[in-house]
Amino acid sequence: MKTTTCIFAAMASAIAFADASSDEAKLKAMLPDVFAKSAAHYRALDAAATPLVDKGEDGMKQVPHGWNAKEGKPDMRSIKWWTSGHYPGSLWYLYEATGDEFFKERAVAWTEILEPNKSDSSHHDTGFMMYCSYGNARRVLKTDKYDGILLETAGSLSSRFNENLGLIRSWGDINDEKDFLVIPDNMMNLELLEEAAKIPGGERRFADVARSHATKTMAHHFRADGGTYHVLNYDQRPGFRGAVQEIRRGQGLSCETAWSRGQSWAIYGYAMMYRESKDPAYLAFAQKVSDFAINHPNMPEDGVPYWDFGAPGEERDSSAASIMASGLLELSTFLPGEKGGKYRAFAVKQLLSLCSDAYFAKPGENGDWLLRHGVGHKPAGSEIDTPLDYGDSSFLEALLRFSRL
Ligand code: GLY
Repeated sequence: MKTTTCIFAAMASAIAFADASSDEAKLKAMLPDVFAKSAAHYRALDAAATPLVDKGEDGMKQVPHGWNAKEGKPDMRSIKWWTSGHYPGSLWYLYEATGDEFFKERAVAWTEILEPNKSDSSHHDTGFMMYCSYGNARRVLKTDKYDGILLETAGSLSSRFNENLGLIRSWGDINDEKDFLVIPDNMMNLELLEEAAKIPGGERRFADVARSHATKTMAHHFRADGGTYHVLNYDQRPGFRGAVQEIRRGQGLSCETAWSRGQSWAIYGYAMMYRESKDPAYLAFAQKVSDFAINHPNMPEDGVPYWDFGAPGEERDSSAASIMASGLLELSTFLPGEKGGKYRAFAVKQLLSLCSDAYFAKPGENGDWLLRHGVGHKPAGSEIDTPLDYGDSSFLEALLRFSRL
């Protein structure tokens, strides 16, 4: 009996291995075509968006964010909008994927209009805004030209760190004594701090802030099963320091369920923090939050989650899938054999789904953004079943990560 069980287990594992490697071969063969189609989409999108750059109502320049289907034009947002780094981020990835100088020239142009954000300390999103743009510019061009901008941004972001709580305040005024709001999305802004600590002239404190924030978030922001809350409100009163005084559903369905994109930010964020710190606690935690997602009973067969893990049958969120795929691919590189293989296989499955006609737009559709079916903020009734700039940039990053494995 025991021998038979072992044989079956060995056969199942061999079949799973064969499936995973044939999926990888399939994705690998598709890459040149997907990158070529993506480049064509973004050339068209850039042509439509470029004349709108100076038309911002707040007097600031604007960056493409999504698709205004009603008016048939790109949905442009002020450079102050939290996603403003993702469009230049996608252009940097397309330059890496194609070597086409057009994308480098456009990436530089859209990156450099974001400079005023370097002194903004009014929210945590400066990490997203400035690392996807200037961080990628520095990495791809191997230049120190943007070091001063990245260091100033790290200073602005870390000014939101509260020493007593050991956390960065994600939302809200720095002097608000009542609320101290933190979201798992904030994990994505720590990479800028880690990188800034390594830039000549950068303070070691930037990395200390990032690690303190990641460790405190790990302790409070997740349920025992690894599912995330969206918004936590910490108590700053003397004697209550660090206690969670309130849980808010934020962009999720409820305080008891896990919002899919928040879970993806956590997967990506803890894999990244392990890369930067080599702290095994972050590696173990990245596995825990990933296992929650990939083994969840409500995870659809194609690996593209519903917008909330507690909302089966409702809209999928392609952005949650692309961020998760990128994080899982990085995580897989830190784990040997079957341990890493399961994350890699899941990410490959997600990318195959996202490259299919079910998600990847045809030319001229979807405002020429790549991925259909993203969900921005369902409880607010905003951006439901639509393209999203951060979905595209994470998708391109994940494909590049896969191409380099
Ligand atoms: N708050 C960032 C997001 O919507 O993912």
